[in-house]
Amino acid sequence: MTFSEIPVIAIDGPSATGKGTLAASLAAHMRFHLLDSGALYRILGLAVARAGVSLDEPETIAQFARNLDIKFGLHGPGSVALDGEDVSLMIRTDLGSDMASKVGSIPAAREALLDRQLEFRQSPGLVADGRDMGTVVFPDASVKFFLTASIEARAKRRYKQLLDKGIDAIFPTLLRELAQRDARDQNRSVSPMQPADDAIVIDTTELNRDEVMARVVKGVAVALQRKR
Ligand code: C5P
Repeated sequence: MTFSEIPVIAIDGPSATGKGTLAASLAAHMRFHLLDSGALYRILGLAVARAGVSLDEPETIAQFARNLDIKFGLHGPGSVALDGEDVSLMIRTDLGSDMASKVGSIPAAREALLDRQLEFRQSPGLVADGRDMGTVVFPDASVKFFLTASIEARAKRRYKQLLDKGIDAIFPTLLRELAQRDARDQNRSVSPMQPADDAIVIDTTELNRDEVMARVVKGVAVALQRKR
């Protein structure tokens, strides 16, 4: 199978739409590889914050992005390691989200993370979760989904996720920060978050996990059948 023949399922959309859970379940279901591109931005944000690099130094940040030692699954399924250290929880905090969205608005950082994301496209296929999977990173994806949900529903989900992980959160703050990050992701000059023209848009506000999964599995089957 050549690189361009390896199927990619792109799942984009704002945070707390159920994208991450869906992508992981779908990858397991299809026995495909999984790219959590948000984790790359989160780790870059963490590394930059730790090193005390200013956000006004795009070239230094791009250099960091190229050299990051990131390992998925090193400390158990779903874990993420930076220089061998388990940072799975740390990158999911509010600060982690904020830093990710800030480094994500730097064009040189996005460019530097591009090749790392392409490396995940391996046989038998890839489920890619992010904001620009279907538009920029894998524009030739076999099938593209864009998940949305009302901001209230998303803030509630994120609030519950954080509490479940034992991370403190204040609901109104969470809601405000989510709106700020949405605005930053949608309005940045490079790769703004938007559905690809050929994406299937799913509003998950009123849907549970199984319902979203059922729709996506159906969409994938139709799309892959059509490509044959
Ligand atoms: O998906 P997740 O919530 O982990 O992403 C964290 C942040 O990383 C997003 O708010 C966004 O700013 C950035 N990001 C991005 N492009 C991606 C994935 C994430 O800019 N493909």
